[in-house]
Amino acid sequence: MRLVRPTLEWEKEHQDYVAEWGPSRMVPSSFSLAEHNGYQDYLTALATREKGNGHWLPSSNYFLVNEENRILAMVDIRHDLNEFLLNVGGHIGYGVRPTERKKGYATRILAEALKKCKELNMDRVLVTCDEENIGSAKVILNNGGVEDTSFTEENDNVKRRFWIENK
Ligand SMILES: CC(C)(COP(=O)(O)OP(=O)(O)OC[C@H]1O[C@@H](n2cnc3c(N)ncnc32)[C@H](O)[C@@H]1OP(=O)(O)O)[C@@H](O)C(=O)NCCC(=O)NCCS
Repeated sequence: MRLVRPTLEWEKEHQDYVAEWGPSRMVPSSFSLAEHNGYQDYLTALATREKGNGHWLPSSNYFLVNEENRILAMVDIRHDLNEFLLNVGGHIGYGVRPTERKKGYATRILAEALKKCKELNMDRVLVTCDEENIGSAKVILNNGGVEDTSFTEENDNVKRRFWIENK
């Protein structure tokens, strides 16, 4: 398994992955193909977003891919925090292909993302999840997360917040 950057050669695999999610909201949102006029248009928009653009802080996006070049999971690493990310989004967002869940891939992609964070000198990494997202909380704890105070959003959704010392 390896992390790879989204490029044109992944168009078909990325489309298949998104199709498997059906109508569920894509997590992380940076991998949604909706509202793009073709894959090159998506890649161009992603590159703009990754550089940092108003609302968006600089970020890096990767697929977790197996030996058969099947995309198993996706991760968005935000290099810094603004108020929204500090309270709600955290540094790292990830999602796993519905048919590949509960096989350890979220735990693995977060571990791989933490290595990328290290290269970016991010030595204290915030990862969050919804209060009812038991699976995601386990993924964070599996990677050394230490729980901080929770944050309640305007819609009463409660976010659990965890720091990972990435030394
Ligand atoms: C949450 C999510 C990332 C978990 O991915 P995953 O690949 O199934 O996670 P893992 O296989 O690494 O599982 C980690 C642990 O959580 C447990 N787990 C996973 N999904 C679970 C669920 N729905 N309910 C209870 N436990 C769950 C696993 O059994 C495992 O337990 P263990 O560490 O005791 O063995 C995946 O379900 C997903 O993509 N959900 C939609 C997007 C999302 O919620 N992203 C996270 C945003 S914070």
